[in-house]
Amino acid sequence: MKLQKLTDRWLDNLIELDAAASEWPWLRTQYLGSFEHHDAVYGWVDRDTLCGLAVVQYVLDEANLLNFAIAAEYQGQGFGKHWMQCVIQEARDKHASQTMFLEVRAGNAAAIKLYTRSGFVQTGLRKAYYPARNGREDAICMSLIMSDNLVTLEPAHG
Ligand SMILES: CC(C)(COP(=O)(O)OP(=O)(O)OC[C@H]1O[C@@H](n2cnc3c(N)ncnc32)[C@H](O)[C@@H]1OP(=O)(O)O)[C@@H](O)C(=O)NCCC(=O)NCCS
Repeated sequence: MKLQKLTDRWLDNLIELDAAASEWPWLRTQYLGSFEHHDAVYGWVDRDTLCGLAVVQYVLDEANLLNFAIAAEYQGQGFGKHWMQCVIQEARDKHASQTMFLEVRAGNAAAIKLYTRSGFVQTGLRKAYYPARNGREDAICMSLIMSDNLVTLEPAHG
């Protein structure tokens, strides 16, 4: 499955995937906002089924990873790691991005592991940034200097 740029024709599929994959999925208005602001909305599509998504905002030589999710049935099989590398490669090679930034919930162990394994390092902490079930949750700020990372694509399992 290759990374492909999605149009708003995929809006319902994006929302459905995110709602099933994530405890804190994006709302319809957030996806609409991204299409409106011309963020890059990427997907991995297998015969019309959306299997993963990524939303990236490009500003000059910076790429901000706004959202990233793997369909629930594809999680834990190496797809996240493989597709993260595709996103990094796209940002670096097609958009000449030098650095990629992201924020992740401090309690999202799977995502933090994935990003760390992809070369991201923690650069900051926003205290009580996200709403949570019981109060608020910190955001961990991470970044990846892409020139330091020679990305080699390995096949995903499965
Ligand atoms: C986070 C997410 C993208 C990871 O994708 P994935 O395809 O399941 O991840 P992979 O199978 O490629 O695993 C990547 C690494 O994370 C680890 N990992 C996967 N799930 C994990 C879990 N639940 N807890 C701890 N580590 C986990 C894997 O062991 C692997 O590490 P390794 O290389 O040392 O073995 C996926 O769980 C997801 O879509 N979650 C919901 C959306 C979300 O939280 N997105 C992040 C928004 S910031």
